[in-house]
Amino acid sequence: MAFKDDDAWNSADYPPMSHPSADVAVNAAVARAAGLDAREPAASRILEIGCGEGHHLLSLANRWPGAQCVGLDVSAKAIHRARSRAKRAGLGNARFCEARLSEFEPDAPFDFIIAHGFFSWVPDEVKVGLMDFIGRSLTPGGTAVVSFNVAAGWKERMAVVEKARAIMAAGEVDAMEALAILRTVAGTERELYLIDDMLAKGAAVLAHDDFAPVMDAWSLGAVVKLAEAHGLRWIGDSVSGVRGDDTSDIGSGTTFRSELFCRSDAVLGDAKKPDRVAALPRVPPTAIPDFPKLDAWRMLCAREALPLPDEDLKPCVFTFPQLKVLIAMDGSRSAYELSRHAKEVAPELDFVPWLRHVAGRGLLG
Ligand SMILES: C[S@@+](CC[C@H](N)C(=O)[O-])C[C@H]1O[C@@H](n2cnc3c(N)ncnc32)[C@H](O)[C@@H]1O
Repeated sequence: MAFKDDDAWNSADYPPMSHPSADVAVNAAVARAAGLDAREPAASRILEIGCGEGHHLLSLANRWPGAQCVGLDVSAKAIHRARSRAKRAGLGNARFCEARLSEFEPDAPFDFIIAHGFFSWVPDEVKVGLMDFIGRSLTPGGTAVVSFNVAAGWKERMAVVEKARAIMAAGEVDAMEALAILRTVAGTERELYLIDDMLAKGAAVLAHDDFAPVMDAWSLGAVVKLAEAHGLRWIGDSVSGVRGDDTSDIGSGTTFRSELFCRSDAVLGDAKKPDRVAALPRVPPTAIPDFPKLDAWRMLCAREALPLPDEDLKPCVFTFPQLKVLIAMDGSRSAYELSRHAKEVAPELDFVPWLRHVAGRGLLG
C-alpha cells in the first residue's frame, strides 16, 4: 500500500513537531563517538526530507544561524507555511523546496540529512529512492537519520486499528470515536493500554500515524540491508549509538526506531568525545532573567499556538492563558510586570515556578 495521491498530505495537516531523535547536535556527537569526523553542525549544510511545515528544521535554523538548512516536501501547503514562518521569524538560513524527492537535485552534498517520519509513509520505490539519494548526497563525514516504524511492535497496534476501522465503517464514526467505543469493550489490559496510547495522540496525529492509509512497518535488519545496498554504513541508534537487533525488537515489542547512517566509504578513526561537538545545546539557565524574552522563532510559535521547541528540541505545548503570558515576553516587560500581567490573563498560573521552568527548558533567549 502506498500514498499515490499527494493531496492526501494536504487534506489532513500533519501536526508541526520537533524531534529530539533528529537533533543534529546529538547525531553529530554519536557519529564522532563512532570515529567519524562529523562537521560542526553550526556551520554545516542540513537537509530535511519530508519536512512538512518545517517545524523541526526551523528550530535547527534558529539554533544555528550559520548553518544552511534546506527543507524538501511534496506538499505545496506545507512548504507555503514553512516559507512564510521562516520569513516572519527572520530565519534567512532556511530554504524550502516544493518537490518530490525523485525530482530533487541539490547543487552540493549535505553534512546532515534528516528523514524523520518519512520511510514508513512512502511507497517501496520511494524508500529505495531515499536510500539511493542519501548514498549519493552525503559529504565524506556526513550522516543521515532515518526513522521508521518497526514491524515487531506494530502488529498488535494494527490489530486494534482493524477493530476500530470495523466500528468506523459500521457506525460512520471517526477514529477517535471508534477508539472510545472500543475502549468500553477492550478484552485485555494490553489492548486498553494501546487504545489509550492512540487516543492520547489525538485525531491529527492518528490520521497520519496509526490510521494513515500507508503505515509500512519494517524490521531494523531489512532497513539496514536496504541502506547497505545503497552505499551506506549503519552506525546505530541516532541518540545512543547502540546497535539494536531484530530479536530484541520482537522481545520488547519495539514500535519505532531512529537510526544513523554514514557513507560506506567514510573513514572511521578513533572515537572522539561528544564534547568535541562545540555546538551541542547549552545547558539552559535556571535563573529567571530580569526581562524575559522569547526569540523571534519561539515568539512566532507562541503567537500561532505551535509547540515551542526547547533546548533539546522537545516540543513544549502550552495552554492558551500561558501562551498569552509568553506572547508578552518581548523583552520590554520585567519579570515583575509579567507576573502582574499573568494575574490578569492566566489567574490559575503559579507564575514564578512556571517561569523558572520555562527558563530551565531553555525557551528564553
Ligand atoms: C508523516 S509526514 C512527516 C513530517 C515530519 N518529517 C515529521 O516527522 O514531523 C511525511 C511528510 O513527507 C512528505 N512526503 C511524502 N512523500 C514525499 C516525496 N516523495 N517527496 C517529498 N516529500 C514527501 C509529506 O508531504 C509529509 O509532509
